[in-house]
Amino acid sequence: MTVDTASRLVTVAQPRSPVSEAYRQLRTNIQFYSLDRAVQTVLVTSASPDDGKSTTLANLAVTFAETGRGVLAVDCDLRRPSLHTFFGLSNDVGLTTLIREERTVADVVVDTEVPNLRILPSGPLPPNPAELLGSQRMERVIETLRGMADVILFDSPPMIAVTDAAVLGAKMDGVLLVVSVNKTKRDHVSRAKRLLEKVNAKVLGVVLNNVKFDGSLYRYYG
Ligand SMILES: Nc1ncnc2c1ncn2[C@@H]1O[C@H](COP(=O)(O)OP(=O)(O)OP(=O)(O)O)[C@@H](O)[C@H]1O
Ligand SMILES: [Mg+2]
Repeated sequence: MTVDTASRLVTVAQPRSPVSEAYRQLRTNIQFYSLDRAVQTVLVTSASPDDGKSTTLANLAVTFAETGRGVLAVDCDLRRPSLHTFFGLSNDVGLTTLIREERTVADVVVDTEVPNLRILPSGPLPPNPAELLGSQRMERVIETLRGMADVILFDSPPMIAVTDAAVLGAKMDGVLLVVSVNKTKRDHVSRAKRLLEKVNAKVLGVVLNNVKFDGSLYRYYG
């Protein structure tokens, strides 16, 4: 594991820490959310910028990969993509390349240093992210990805300013809403929740991320 990867991912650097344990608890809660039908595709979003969406997603992806199941993390934040940076990878090609049908999935999905975990970076940033994410081609991409991994986590921009996450939420088995304690505004959280309900997205739960204080509070309630 490179220093860079380890330093940004607590689940890699300190797998026995309480924070890593909290991510495992979150994983378990998602696994048992529906007993009838496994939750395969999960959107991770939040109301506002910097709430900790990408950090949550990357650590959760590592934690799912620990179980030996095939995990794919997809960067659908086509405005401020960051997933590739957690794993020291490039985002020169990725999701947008795929949607434009310029490459095949095998060309753009990349292995990480974490066993069982692959990522699909954003690719070059488009002028019209919401349109791209809402397109029929995107639906086909999601269908293809479903055949490639047991668990697929999708990163996204914040919900308040742009519609990207709501558009995606409607296509997922479930949505996790990250709330940064003491930072995310209460009415922004309510608005994000309402936007998700409007598109009939299934909110699996809220992840509390405490960025400001000791960074050790990751909790989950259904
Ligand atoms: N629990 C935490 N403890 C300490 N720092 C954190 C924690 N969660 C996130 N951060 C830091 O907060 C910043 C924002 O985190 P992150 O990029 O995960 O948020 P985001 O919601 O994905 O942001 P964006 O809206 O830009 O996509 C980063 O610098 C990250 O390292
Ligand atoms: Mg992010």
